[in-house]
Amino acid sequence: MIYDYIIIGAGIAGLNAARLIPKDKRVLILCKMSTWNSNTFWAQGGIASAVDENDIPLHIKDTLEAGANYNDKSAVELLSRTSIPAIKELINAGMKFDLNKDGSLAYTKEAAHSRNRILHSCGDATGREIHLFLLEHCPHEIITSAVACDLLIKDNICYGVQYFIKNEQKALFAHNIIIASGGFGSIYKYHTNSTANAGEMQGLAVLKNLPLKDMEMTQFHPTVLKGTTFARKPLLSEALRGEGAFIVDENNKRFLFDYHKDGELAPRDIVSRSIFDYHKKTGLQVYLSFENFEKKAFKQRFPNIYENIKDLGYDLPFENVPISPAFHYAMGGIQTEQNGLVKGFKNLYAIGEVACTGVHGANRLASNSLLEGLVFSKIAVETSLENNFKIDIKNYDKEILNYTRTTEIDKEIKDGLRRVMWNSAGIVREKSELKKALEQIDEFLKKDIGRLVYLRLLCAKEVLKSALKREKSLGAHFIKED
Ligand code: SIN
Repeated sequence: MIYDYIIIGAGIAGLNAARLIPKDKRVLILCKMSTWNSNTFWAQGGIASAVDENDIPLHIKDTLEAGANYNDKSAVELLSRTSIPAIKELINAGMKFDLNKDGSLAYTKEAAHSRNRILHSCGDATGREIHLFLLEHCPHEIITSAVACDLLIKDNICYGVQYFIKNEQKALFAHNIIIASGGFGSIYKYHTNSTANAGEMQGLAVLKNLPLKDMEMTQFHPTVLKGTTFARKPLLSEALRGEGAFIVDENNKRFLFDYHKDGELAPRDIVSRSIFDYHKKTGLQVYLSFENFEKKAFKQRFPNIYENIKDLGYDLPFENVPISPAFHYAMGGIQTEQNGLVKGFKNLYAIGEVACTGVHGANRLASNSLLEGLVFSKIAVETSLENNFKIDIKNYDKEILNYTRTTEIDKEIKDGLRRVMWNSAGIVREKSELKKALEQIDEFLKKDIGRLVYLRLLCAKEVLKSALKREKSLGAHFIKED
């Protein structure tokens, strides 16, 4: 059987695409782990949107400024312009965002936004609520624990996907393939991402000669709870700072204004780098302070953060919590046209964090990620319905290759990779360290590793190679110059 669409990934981009593809199409969604194991599910702060027509130029300006003006300006314009109808459509379909007492939409503020324009849901569980809404409204079949391991491509047409499911390997064929598999936080030691986000699709892009762009542009979130042993580090949403939390050292000194006039509300790359630098110079631990909040109001506005952090032993808003930056988001990825098609392809799409549309430039503006997933999934579905591309399956080889899924040393290699990436391709980079890391990854690649670790390593190698190529610092990529 030939599907009309195969969607790889079940976060906001993949699920929203699925929701918008008509019910009579044959669609299958491959979800790598369980459905909740996605970056969308864990997103706290919210989803940015231009508030009205007058706000579009301002939203564009903020996005460009945060992105160090490295963004693709026309993609940013498209994102901002489409944000209003895309959010309206989602609300009309039944998604509930938090409201003010008068029934109007409640917008909050996050760093580098010049006004309140972040919608949120259940206070601080916006991603979870959008994710559950999209799952509930998904008219097509999702299979879980289905891990894509190859794209079947001939003459720039992607006609299928090969995937692991339990101990088997299978192939599926489709007229349209949509990659919506997210970023690659799991290749870093400290990150806020779902464990599903390990860069295999970016690795496949290397292998299959799909264009990748800006892979060195990796964003580090400034406020992640320090000291837990979880793979995914607990995030302390930027919305906390947007509404009054601030950063201090162990002597209760606010130091961020020494680095930037906007202090805690400077763009994310600047805040992360300043914390890193301050800690390195002074040796002092850095904390998030909630002194400006009343307990009742805090619990009401941030109920999930309150509970989660309480379970980890902190009494908010009375106690300061130790923080440090951690990998959060990949601005780069598979390069696409503005209509969602992978550059050079007619039926292969990439949307959401796995894609590089150029909207985020060198540093993503807070809460523009859920928005990107929402907007570009809508655009990609519209493009595909209009193009109505059909493959002629007779022209394609249906044999599949036999890959080894895992080997005994995979865990050791994954841990080694995480350390190497954190130490060499982190907040501050040095050419010599990037070169050493590349050599180390080449050593890992010589070992008896499984297919998925192999793809992770290819993704990591691309980050390192891109970081080496960009010799001058820009946005989130900070490199010590010779
Ligand atoms: C947060 O809540 O701080 C994360 C929002 C984002 O990454 O845009």
